[in-house]
Amino acid sequence: METRSSYIKWARFYDVVVTLMSLGREPAFRKTTLELGEVRPGQKLLDVGCGTGTLAILAKAKAGPDGEVHGIDASPEMIEVACRKADKAGADVRFQVGLFEDIPFPDDQFDLALSSLMLHHLPDELKREGFAEIYRVLKPGGRLLTVDFGAPSNSLISHLMLLFGHSRTQSNVQELMTMMEDAGFREVEAVQSKYRGLAFIRATVMSNRVKGTYTAPSPWSKLSPKAMMRIAI
Ligand SMILES: C[S@@+](CC[C@H](N)C(=O)[O-])C[C@H]1O[C@@H](n2cnc3c(N)ncnc32)[C@H](O)[C@@H]1O
Repeated sequence: METRSSYIKWARFYDVVVTLMSLGREPAFRKTTLELGEVRPGQKLLDVGCGTGTLAILAKAKAGPDGEVHGIDASPEMIEVACRKADKAGADVRFQVGLFEDIPFPDDQFDLALSSLMLHHLPDELKREGFAEIYRVLKPGGRLLTVDFGAPSNSLISHLMLLFGHSRTQSNVQELMTMMEDAGFREVEAVQSKYRGLAFIRATVMSNRVKGTYTAPSPWSKLSPKAMMRIAI
């Protein structure tokens, strides 16, 4: 399945770009992400849109030998780099090509899902499909932590992002939180951090969850009854 989002093909340069754009603060940012995600030994984790695998490899160190970490990304080039990095680090992280909107795992698999700097690649409709997919693959009581760029600004980083083909997220934090709630998540909260311009959101699958609350609108629903009749005849 092809994704409708824009994904990154210049994987070989990705880590260098992140180091430059974060002005060397990437390790601290990753540490904060794992702390806010509350990664624990023995957990089963999924990093969606894992890119070159930096966060997933660090998460595995926290999840320990009894933990299990998977990373999926739409870009085969990113997955190739991630696999090489995990091998080099001796980290048992399982990477595969896979889409946020069509997650290649059965229901009720993971304790925690992470999504770091991926949401701004996606149109809102795809975000909705993806949140429903994450909700499906999380266990009851499982949690989601997302981090992405906050509201658009005229800052230097915004302009740099545009240069590298990144548009700022269409949705603001409140809209993302509403999408998560629509997908079934509860206890959805924006978490404050020292990173201005980055928005962390945490959400939980309740233990007594009701499944299947989201259905993607059919393309037919945009047609008027008259147009439907014309097609039917
Ligand atoms: C800016 S990178 C972030 C990578 C990594 N999570 C990080 O924090 O460095 C965004 C990643 O999302 C991936 N991506 C974009 N659309 C996707 C989709 N629909 N499903 C899965 N991955 C996607 C891109 O290929 C890219 O690797």
